[in-house]
Amino acid sequence: MATALPNHAQLVEFGQKHVTKGLGRQVEAVITKGKGSYVELGDGRELLDFTSGIGVTNLGHCHPRVSAAAAEQCMNLVHGQCSIGFTKPYLELIEKLLPMMPHPSLDSFYFWNSGSEAVEGAIKMARTFTGRQNIICMQGGYHGRTFGAMAVTKSKTVYSAGFNPLMPGVFSIPFPYWHQLSRPKDTPTEELSAYCLNQLSLLLSQQTTPKDTAAIIIESVVGEGGYVPIPTEFMKGLRDTCDQHGIMLIIDEVQSGFGRTGKNFAIEYSGVKPDIMTIAKGLANGFPLSGIVSRKELTDKLTPGSMAFDFRVAPMLGALYLAQQALKLPTCSRRRKSWIMSMHDLWSYSLH
Ligand SMILES: Cc1ncc(COP(=O)(O)O)c(C=O)c1O
Repeated sequence: MATALPNHAQLVEFGQKHVTKGLGRQVEAVITKGKGSYVELGDGRELLDFTSGIGVTNLGHCHPRVSAAAAEQCMNLVHGQCSIGFTKPYLELIEKLLPMMPHPSLDSFYFWNSGSEAVEGAIKMARTFTGRQNIICMQGGYHGRTFGAMAVTKSKTVYSAGFNPLMPGVFSIPFPYWHQLSRPKDTPTEELSAYCLNQLSLLLSQQTTPKDTAAIIIESVVGEGGYVPIPTEFMKGLRDTCDQHGIMLIIDEVQSGFGRTGKNFAIEYSGVKPDIMTIAKGLANGFPLSGIVSRKELTDKLTPGSMAFDFRVAPMLGALYLAQQALKLPTCSRRRKSWIMSMHDLWSYSLH
């Protein structure tokens, strides 16, 4: 039983009055503590956090080594402005991530704070790399709530209602999911994929010519749109189309990355190479850190300064440090491996 706060009811009332209504909540309570898979509430309840902070706290809430690393870094350097120089934790994190990448060509990194910002960065990069504007996304896809990310989010209208006009140049196609396509549940995925690839082909000939199309963005596992792993043949079809027309394939691994599906990244199941990949959530186990990964030959086209922000990583030094600590955690690695293996079993089971 968690310790109840004597003034819990007043705190909740204060929050209801002064915290913007734009944030939704599952419980009208104050979260006071997180430990492993559990969170404590100020009303004395202890909850099993089935969501892991919505796919974020992959190592459990307040992992002692992660928290210790953050505390240590905070006493050393917090705001190491990356527009001024390199920082060691930043470079060490890249060193740890490089061998985890789903394709060796992914060798150029840029860190930011949130998944939405990573998507913004990916869109900016795709436009720069190709000199084109339009972006194709999936009906049912979720990529975040900042302006570019919101424009390519098609899972629910609540995310864009009232915020129009959205970023222009966005087109969408269905992804292979029997439910969304109103097909019987046992429809072979090959058939669903072929239908959706044909929709892509029609889109490129009827609405956005490849010459104007910068990127196709897709989650490896469409989350909000139904928790649907993208079939390999569809991913390969997207890759072929992108190769044929010089379009960037942006793989959003913000939610499916870092072991959630039994592999470091869910895209590994298809073997498809992303041109740009977005990562966040499990990367820093609860600290705000995201990343955009691409190929150096492409990112060399970016103008220095064009992607810079005060907090693009500076205050995240602690998070970077702890993230790389988390990735290399020797005591954790056995547990991490067995966790990844059980996620893999669970994942394989869910596909049947
Ligand atoms: C696939 C995907 N992309 C992007 C985002 C946006 O991340 P954030 O909420 O950190 O901005 C999310 C968040 O749930 C996501 O699941």
